[in-house]
Amino acid sequence: MDTFDWKNLSFGYVKTDYNVRTYHRNGQWGELEISSSEYINLHIAATCLHYGQEAFEGLKAFKGKDNKIRVFRSDSNAKRMFDTAEGIEMASVPGDLFKKAVHKAVSLNTKYIPPYGHGASLYIRPLLIGSGAEVGVKPAKEYLFIVFVTPVGTYFKDGFKPVDIMVCRGFDRAAPLGTGCYKVGGNYAASLASLELAHHKGFSTALYLDPKEKKYIDEAGPANFFGIRDNTYITPESKSILPSITNMSLQQLAKDMGMKVERRPVLFEELSSFEEVGACGTAAVITPIRKIVDPDTNKIYEFCCDGKPGPVSTRLYNKLMAIQNGDESDPYGWVEFVD
Ligand SMILES: Cc1ncc(COP(=O)(O)O)c(C=O)c1O
Repeated sequence: MDTFDWKNLSFGYVKTDYNVRTYHRNGQWGELEISSSEYINLHIAATCLHYGQEAFEGLKAFKGKDNKIRVFRSDSNAKRMFDTAEGIEMASVPGDLFKKAVHKAVSLNTKYIPPYGHGASLYIRPLLIGSGAEVGVKPAKEYLFIVFVTPVGTYFKDGFKPVDIMVCRGFDRAAPLGTGCYKVGGNYAASLASLELAHHKGFSTALYLDPKEKKYIDEAGPANFFGIRDNTYITPESKSILPSITNMSLQQLAKDMGMKVERRPVLFEELSSFEEVGACGTAAVITPIRKIVDPDTNKIYEFCCDGKPGPVSTRLYNKLMAIQNGDESDPYGWVEFVD
């Protein structure tokens, strides 16, 4: 992979050599199989195709200066996929199987892990689908769990640079008591029209408000939201947002930096009081937000600092990246080494 243009890698799909798979049949998971095919043979009545029995995860592996391969917090992704599977009545993947599959998929494709220093990484995509055939609306009796990997650059093409986003009141990505807290494909299907609208209007993503009252801030596209005010990291608590592993990590790092952390419903009106705001998630780590435009009221909320990322967001971003890359110590055991 010496000829690979690591610097200009986008956040897209690049074929790698292997993926790993296993089926859940007759109440148990089978052996983990290694496959070199990018395709699956699927029954036309599989429940994932008709009734949305589909869950996925996203996490990353990094190559350090020491050439060691580090996977970030796979146990948290395993837990989230477990909860998601229970949430939509799928067979759940035990934590040890999840971890084994993730590590195997990474170790089979080490030549695709971007070298240290390019801001690129190996994206890991675990996928769980109802593969059993049903015609009535009910859970499948058979499930397929796959982990594939692909090298990625930064999610937003401008990297760690502030972006402008747009408030989207005309769409909800999840219902108040729906599946927003689970990582299921249906939430993403529900978000596509609003994301496209935001992109067409020149914004990086859409800011969703709570689907019940439109009073509180929910998420920033496929990422959690946070605001910084008076040395406090403030992030929404809501039934309709995905519990972000990046956000959990940033909350811990903010505390370590002597900040207060508040996880609570965040009123939309609070926007004007924030010094810095950002979106966070595995793909982008932190995307600082420069401007939030509200087309319904014609109000524009602007944040620190003249088009540059704010100081707190920058410190948090650098700290988390340093732990992921192995440049700084990992006091919470977030990093797992891959052989
Ligand atoms: C809707 C949504 N919110 C938040 C996140 C961030 O979660 P994490 O930090 O675990 O990647 C993601 C990405 O996975 C997402 O799709």
